[in-house]
Amino acid sequence: MNNIGVDDESRSNFVVVANRLPVDLEHLPDGTTAWKRSPGGLVTALEPILRSKSGAWVGWPGVSDERVEPFTDNGLTLCPIELSATDIVEYYEGFSNDTLWPLYHDVSVPPTFERSWWHTYCAVNRRFAEEAARCAAPEATVWVQDYQLQLVPKMLRELRPDLTIGFFLHIPFPPVELFMQLPWRREIVEGMLGADLIGFHLPGGADNFLFLARRLLELETTNTSVGVRGALGQVRFNERTVQVGAFPISVDSLALEAMAKGSAIAARAKEIRRELGNPEKILLGVDRLDYTKGIDLRLTAVKELLDEGRLDAARTVMVQLATPSRERVQHYIDLRSVIEEQVGHINGDHGQIGHPIVHYLYQPVARDELVALFVAADVMLVTPMRDGMNLVAKEYVACRGDLGGALVLSEFTGAAMELRQAYLVNPHDLDGVKNVIMTALEQDSASGRRRMTALHHQVLTHDVHKWAESFLAALTSGNDPQSDTSDNEPDLVHNT
Ligand code: ADP
Ligand code: F6P
Repeated sequence: MNNIGVDDESRSNFVVVANRLPVDLEHLPDGTTAWKRSPGGLVTALEPILRSKSGAWVGWPGVSDERVEPFTDNGLTLCPIELSATDIVEYYEGFSNDTLWPLYHDVSVPPTFERSWWHTYCAVNRRFAEEAARCAAPEATVWVQDYQLQLVPKMLRELRPDLTIGFFLHIPFPPVELFMQLPWRREIVEGMLGADLIGFHLPGGADNFLFLARRLLELETTNTSVGVRGALGQVRFNERTVQVGAFPISVDSLALEAMAKGSAIAARAKEIRRELGNPEKILLGVDRLDYTKGIDLRLTAVKELLDEGRLDAARTVMVQLATPSRERVQHYIDLRSVIEEQVGHINGDHGQIGHPIVHYLYQPVARDELVALFVAADVMLVTPMRDGMNLVAKEYVACRGDLGGALVLSEFTGAAMELRQAYLVNPHDLDGVKNVIMTALEQDSASGRRRMTALHHQVLTHDVHKWAESFLAALTSGNDPQSDTSDNEPDLVHNT
């Protein structure tokens, strides 16, 4: 990694602005520092794109009060933003993750509306906008990401009207009646409207946004139902036309498929099964530890199935990986206790010496280990109460080029719109979830292969490169982003 100054020559023609850099700075016990991959689907999706474009990435290095000069890493320019301890409490943990996150995820826990957090959110968004303005070459394309930075498009346009600005929201955009709770709703919508193109995962999110622009800001909109034919909607704002569209994000499917096919992964998958005691069936969950992910729900389902004798403890093992996330936010602290108590109950009631039922790891695992787990898993459990997309579901399917395995998938994920041949569940219906888990475990191999063939084809033909290309093509030329998705259309469900 090489330090650089951002002078005129090293300004980039393509800049991503996201809350986090793709790597987090880590302080090691021996006093040295190291960079490690940062958590979440946004980084999974965008890192391969940006590396292939040799662009710049503006973001926070994941620790407080750390001033790090811009540096390059394998052709990618990283421009760190310093956040103070107060910024982290009020902008990141507070407004982003205790106000916007629950509000946008169906108010699954009550959002906190705190004026000081809002002021810090504005100040930090301004800092990101200023850094992006500094890093971007004349007439560059700048792509702003996610709910932490919704004010950046407007601020950046004021600083640099020469830029082409895109904005993509990685989480659901809520229905108007929820969004209207936000005391700063007008500022947020106007902030996003600083972009030339605003992207959502699903047509429902784009429709919600267009409806809000009309109702709240009384703006003129056209093509107000993005969901019907996948066309772009438009909003007239400050004598500009802002495009609005749906672009379902995906994963680097080919790379995952190739990795999963490798002999090292196959060997490790077999070894994992051996290490787990050669169970007949392996159930797998992989999530950030977040209350939107339905980890507690799936543990309840598994517990009841074991209690009722429908699941055989001698033949079944569950692996649950939970990456630590937002660990100082109270709802996350509470959820961790709940989950760990549930794991303890299941193992206490149904485990044997040397043979727990649930293997629970509260830690991120290396990418190749994750792929080996995907290959080993007979049933993948993806049960969020609400999720913008859920890349884990797509990663599992991409890794199952062997056409084995089964995906149990919540209807309330964005992924469910495309992955229609998964075993779809309503996470609010516990009995339904239990029945579907049993159906997936007991599927006959021919019907399992049929389902996985369709799922695998969908994910391989709609990968993250296609997602980025379609967004950027629409951003730079106003193209219809979904002209190639007619093959999906019969499958689309209205889901925000
Ligand atoms: P979110 O963005 O809300 O975290 P996604 O499912 O879209 O959810 O993306 C999560 C990403 O983080 C995926 O790429 C997934 O493989 C990765 N991930 C989640 N948990 C772990 C873990 N314990 N170890 C390694 N990677 C993980
Ligand atoms: O995809 C949603 C998202 O919040 C991303 O914006 C973020 O990078 C990821 O999940 C992980 O969350 P955090 O950055 O709060 O650890």
